[in-house]
Amino acid sequence: MNELDSLVAAARLDFDAAATPADLENAKAKYLGKAGRITELMKGMAALAVDEKKSRGAAINVAKQGIENALGERRQALADEELAVQLRAESLDVTLPGRRRAEGGLHPVSRTLERIEAIFSSMGFDVADGPELESDWHSFTSLNNPPNHPARSMQDTFYADVNGEDGIAYNLRPHTSPMQVRYAHQHVKKHAAQFEAAAADPTGQLKAPEIRVIAPGRTYRVDSDATHSPMFHQCEGLWLGENVSFKDLKVVFTDFCRTFFESDDLVLRFRPSFFPFTEPSAEIDIQFQAGPLAGRWLEVAGSGQVHPNVVRNMGLDPERYIGFAFGMGPDRLTMLRYGVNDLRLFFDGDLRFLSQFR
Ligand code: DAH
Repeated sequence: MNELDSLVAAARLDFDAAATPADLENAKAKYLGKAGRITELMKGMAALAVDEKKSRGAAINVAKQGIENALGERRQALADEELAVQLRAESLDVTLPGRRRAEGGLHPVSRTLERIEAIFSSMGFDVADGPELESDWHSFTSLNNPPNHPARSMQDTFYADVNGEDGIAYNLRPHTSPMQVRYAHQHVKKHAAQFEAAAADPTGQLKAPEIRVIAPGRTYRVDSDATHSPMFHQCEGLWLGENVSFKDLKVVFTDFCRTFFESDDLVLRFRPSFFPFTEPSAEIDIQFQAGPLAGRWLEVAGSGQVHPNVVRNMGLDPERYIGFAFGMGPDRLTMLRYGVNDLRLFFDGDLRFLSQFR
């Protein structure tokens, strides 16, 4: 191998060893740059005779061409490699499952609340909302549960560190019953003219609009096990007029239960009980005649005829206005409807449980 062939071979080795385009440019300078080997050889021709110059020049040009070819091939190889790396990095596996937006859904208890509202609305009931931080008067006193009355201990109440203007502690309402009095006050105020006209009418023919309302919402008690949660839901009901009786309660509540559970194979029982705000009072039990719960009496609500003291606290005359109230547990209704046996599942926020209700 002559000197020029070795030079081309050396250049090819150097170029092939260059791992990046920058390395390659450095290697190129060594051979083809201004101070490179080819330039050096050209300068060396100055001393040669004319015909020697000719053949030497041609040989150097062949070597130069060889080096340039080697450079071009390596450039192309590096560019190909870079492209391959880039393509690998940007590769798209079209067989992978797509990324979907997670699907949400209503909480099972929210579904129940919506059902309750829809059913009672269809029976002409208004739906009312009220504060969860409630005054002592609304939670107890107005409901015929005066201070120190033993019935107050029926509820293990969370008392809040907030005092009202009257200096009496507020509480996280232990039931939705305070909404009876709150709503009645709003109702009487809204229809004040009609209530006054009715009161002034000696014939008794003029009637003020009846109160017909449900009040669903969150309630709180110091209680926690598989069937009790410190936060739970209740739904209050109140129907008050001049001629509303227990018979109406029975019709309304039977209708509600049959619609809610989508079953006519369902019977109700009113079991005597005690609540300070009703007299007489009854526990409402239901019994399915078919299905997995058939034959068992299941307690679903407390109820009764609104106590005269409560009617008076509503700003109404108990000699004229009479009716019934009830309080039920939407959480329990949800458990019965879906066959859930642990109340805590509703409030743990576990998607494996909740997504079953989507
Ligand atoms: N407030 C009662 C409770 O928390 C439930 C209740 C019973 C509500 C009888 C009523 C009623 O309106 O008439 O257990």
